[in-house]
Amino acid sequence: MIRIRLSHTVAGAVGAVFLGLPAIAGAQNYPTKPITMIIPFAAGGPSDTLGRLTADHLGRTLGQQVVVENVGGAGGTVGTERAARAAADGYTIFQHHGAMAAAPSLYPNLKYDSKSVFEYVGLINTGPMVLTSRKTLETKTAKDLLAHIKSMGPKVTIAHAGVGSNSYMCALLIIQNTKAKPSMVPYRGTGPAMNDLVGGQVDVLCDQATTATPQALAGNIKPYLVTSRERLSALKDVPAYAEAGISDFEMTIWNGLYAPKGTPKPVLDRLHDALQKFIDDPKVVERFHLTGTVPFGKNMRSPTVHKQHFEGEMTRVAKMVKEAGVNVQEKK
Ligand code: MLT
Repeated sequence: MIRIRLSHTVAGAVGAVFLGLPAIAGAQNYPTKPITMIIPFAAGGPSDTLGRLTADHLGRTLGQQVVVENVGGAGGTVGTERAARAAADGYTIFQHHGAMAAAPSLYPNLKYDSKSVFEYVGLINTGPMVLTSRKTLETKTAKDLLAHIKSMGPKVTIAHAGVGSNSYMCALLIIQNTKAKPSMVPYRGTGPAMNDLVGGQVDVLCDQATTATPQALAGNIKPYLVTSRERLSALKDVPAYAEAGISDFEMTIWNGLYAPKGTPKPVLDRLHDALQKFIDDPKVVERFHLTGTVPFGKNMRSPTVHKQHFEGEMTRVAKMVKEAGVNVQEKK
């Protein structure tokens, strides 16, 4: 009779393999129930607008509903922490933008390691910001607006979606250009900030083209410039920053999809493939175009490139924050 004795280590490893089987089998059948997509900003803003579009399309491709949950606060860090703590089973996914790469430079007490806490599913789209004001402000050009901010200082209110958000980083560009100290008004997202701009409760907001474009076209707010080198065809009457006579006002935003660290590879592959179907859909591309963004090109689509892009942005923003002398403690 042949006796086989397994060491504890080997027995443990074999046990783990068998215990792991249901998880792998589960991953092969994925998804078998609705998926939650966390958006780290309030409803009605650009992240929410893109998130709902993505969720609807992914849901149709995957055959299960993808439900958006808005978890706003602290420039996206509250929602990021929630997503990072979720089970790594594919039933919580997370869409975020450059603020996740900016957060380590601006929040000294982050409770997660931005670089390693997520799996990278893929980059989505990219576009510029639009510098806008309430429509009742009398300034006509971007130069007028910056001169007004410079002369009025704290009497001018600039809305933003929390430290590190895109609107906050764009407000830093205003401050760099004017050396002024306007009053910064934080919101849980630019959805509610835009409502207050339309209502005239705040003076200025630099928001993503996704939500600034329809409001500007409807005449609800005043657009002054786009932060890209070229005009947007969706907003063809609004000058690019250099045309507006401002040499240093470039800013590009980008969005990506993530899953908690440890999400099984078959699940990540399904999500990645579904994401490609979304950004390749001509109706989606048209929708992006109408609101001033474009999908990332094929050479930027892999999870590896997403990771490289994220890490590059982390380094770039850290340098920028240092050079701009942003007081991190004050902005916590
Ligand atoms: C939002 O949806 O509120 C934005 O993405 C916030 C921002 O980054 O400005």
